[in-house]
Amino acid sequence: MLKDNRVLLIVSGGIAAYKVLEVIRRLRETGAAVRCVLTRAGAQFVTPLSLAALSEDKVYEDLFSLTDESEMGHIRLSREADLLLVAPATANILAKMAAGLADDLATTLLLATDKPVMVAPAMNVRMWEHPATRANLATLEGRGVLRVGPEEGEMACHEWGMGRMAEPETIVAAVTGFLAAPKRLAGHRALVTSGPTHEAIDPVRFLANRSSGKQGHAIAGALARLGAETVLVTGPTVQPDPPGVTVTHVESATEMLAACRDALPVTVAVCAAAVADWRPAAPADGKIKKNGAPPAIALTENPDILATLSAAGNARPRLVVGFAAETEQVLDNAKAKRRRKDCDWIVANDVSPATGTFGGDGNTVHLVMGPVDGQGGEETVEHWPALTKVAVAERLAGRIADALEDGT
Ligand code: CTP
Repeated sequence: MLKDNRVLLIVSGGIAAYKVLEVIRRLRETGAAVRCVLTRAGAQFVTPLSLAALSEDKVYEDLFSLTDESEMGHIRLSREADLLLVAPATANILAKMAAGLADDLATTLLLATDKPVMVAPAMNVRMWEHPATRANLATLEGRGVLRVGPEEGEMACHEWGMGRMAEPETIVAAVTGFLAAPKRLAGHRALVTSGPTHEAIDPVRFLANRSSGKQGHAIAGALARLGAETVLVTGPTVQPDPPGVTVTHVESATEMLAACRDALPVTVAVCAAAVADWRPAAPADGKIKKNGAPPAIALTENPDILATLSAAGNARPRLVVGFAAETEQVLDNAKAKRRRKDCDWIVANDVSPATGTFGGDGNTVHLVMGPVDGQGGEETVEHWPALTKVAVAERLAGRIADALEDGT
């Protein structure tokens, strides 16, 4: 049952809009409150009156309604929801969401919200397969947007293929599954590092690497969704702060280590950051001028955050998870790295340029697991299929919850 859960349903303009009436009815049956926002195009397919009758609430249609805006309508609508569900999600609204457009109430809400967002795409098969739609969805999923469907089948245009909106019961099951998911990590604190670090050469230049922060941010979001009180310590990235996570922004490895120490004690630490191994030993106070030979930059080693957390004595998290970015002998190097840094688990991924892992949305990983909580046992390895970074994050968070439940 979803008693006391509040779903804000955004209905955009597709022929599948008629099915949302059934979605509302079924959601109400689970005990959830449903409030509807109807786009102008959506109103061509379904009437505000039907939505209002089934949801038993006012239907919101226009961004610039004076009474609603005097109460900051879009902010309030988001605040009073536990989940935003976009159904049907047309190619057009997905594109607007990916680009961050806010030209009506629905898209303004979607840009302003810090609540989880789920989309139920519905469109013609060629629109679904178009590279623009593929890229938009990858962007949205990378930001943590949840997706249900579409399904394969006959469409309103009499074509057959992928793009038909998921059936109402599938959509309702996805919403119920998400909102009623047991908070398996409630009562636990989690620490995640993410992104690259920037190591100053002088006030304008730095050493850095290609890490996007996508994987680490997704892990922080997934742990928070399972109920962990999550602290994300991130180097400079363009990733938005994940909802429900306390984020500390840092630049250098030294700052990252200090922020991680401040976050202790935690039950679990996941080090996904691509921390620079070295930093300029003596960054110049002023901009280094180009006079004469190129400067020699002496480097000094950075602290190893993963190894430091693993060796933190009484403050050691119960489960320390590292990442191993490798370009050759991925598994062997990762296993050696796990032992060397004394972490419990290590996620091995191949980051050679051909894989597109650095900066991309996908990741193919192997999870090397040692025994947790000092229990005896062998090292085991799980080979995961090619997944999105969001899916890797969900799976890893699930494994973490399994391990902590087993050990308690
Ligand atoms: N790591 C860290 N602090 C560092 C370097 C790495 O916390 N100063 C962590 C990363 O977050 C990751 C793991 O150690 O979880 C392995 O990072 P990786 O870059 O693969 O390994 P390195 O230690 O840099 O080893 P090498 O570059 O020799 O492969």
